Amino acid sequence: MVGWYHSAMGSTFGNLFRITTWGESHGDAVGVVIDGCPPGLELDVAEIQADLDRRRPGQSEITTQRRESDRAEILSGVFEERTLGTPIAISVRNEDAKGKDYEHMKSVFRPSHADYTYQAKYGIRNWKGGGRASARETIGRVAAGAVASKILAAEGVEIVGYVKKVWTLEAPVDTETVTRQDVEANIARVPDAAMAERIIDRIKQARKDGDSLGGVVEAVARGVPVGLGEPVFDKLEADLARGLLSLPACKGFEIGSGFAGTEMTGSAHNDPFYNDDGRIRTRTNHSGGVQGGISNGENIVIKAAFKPTATITKQQNTVDDQGNETTIAGRGRHDPCVLPRAVPMVEAMVALVLCDHLLMQRALQG
Ligand SMILES: Cc1cc2nc3c(=O)[nH]c(=O)nc-3n(C[C@H](O)[C@H](O)[C@H](O)COP(=O)(O)O)c2cc1C
Repeated sequence: MVGWYHSAMGSTFGNLFRITTWGESHGDAVGVVIDGCPPGLELDVAEIQADLDRRRPGQSEITTQRRESDRAEILSGVFEERTLGTPIAISVRNEDAKGKDYEHMKSVFRPSHADYTYQAKYGIRNWKGGGRASARETIGRVAAGAVASKILAAEGVEIVGYVKKVWTLEAPVDTETVTRQDVEANIARVPDAAMAERIIDRIKQARKDGDSLGGVVEAVARGVPVGLGEPVFDKLEADLARGLLSLPACKGFEIGSGFAGTEMTGSAHNDPFYNDDGRIRTRTNHSGGVQGGISNGENIVIKAAFKPTATITKQQNTVDDQGNETTIAGRGRHDPCVLPRAVPMVEAMVALVLCDHLLMQRALQG
């Protein structure tokens, strides 16, 4: 909406609730600057830390074993645990940055990672741990998402994300009732105990095979007020898609019935309206809570598809930075499946988009 120049170099997201993330995987620190957070919001660093802990590497036997405490420090914008309305800077030190593990990747491009394209674009790159393309960048998003979630919670909005599918294994989940507690009940973040067990076993097998797996994170936002979304270019689903697809390894986005809706007829797909004691509601929710780019008050339900992790220990064909054909086998510490750790990242992006649109709707209403 407000123009290209804000995010000209790609590290800034949002219009009125605007974040800029900074930092590389094996640099000194990573973090975020949040601009546009309303003043007077109670904010304790522990609330940010809780979400960072869900994102943290080394949290279980099915994630990367990189050991980071990911301690958040608020450097500005908060005084006596209340936001000042000034830029909020949040920083996290990198502690377990073993650049040596990546020495062999200095001049050899990992298939389907960002090594080749960063080198081709910038002519220089921090090759340690994926640099800026590493999922460590998302620390800033998750920290900012925790602040956005607080603003949304005050409006009665609650966001719950979970692993819906890994590889071909899909969990049955009720979007109306699923809770954060259900999600956090197991290390896979699959809110179905039986499927969680199968998925955990399959991820362990992939790691043993020197391979990796992808899957789908689903998220539901409940209690979203009617009217969020700015047609036509900043339709709510367009901004959600942009936010989600900006996450590392995210390759697909759906809202509501998504691609499955193409196999339905209009009469089956339409969401009939009814009057629920003066509140206009729909009987079904194939729209996923958004119509015409504007929230209709029903649950917003989105899906984000994540590809299998690029770095695997199986040997693969590639080329080096001189164009010589060679092979590579990943070393270092990697997630055999990014899905469990992607959950707080998806929630954060949904929160950032909804919070931005909430502030825009307030501005529009005057
Ligand atoms: C939670 C999470 C963890 C990730 N961990 C790894 C990893 O350990 N190794 C790796 O090669 N890629 C990992 N990635 C993905 C890469 O950052 C990403 O694939 C790479 O930057 C290339 O970008 P693209 O996949 O979006 O095209 C992770 C992504 C997420 C969301």
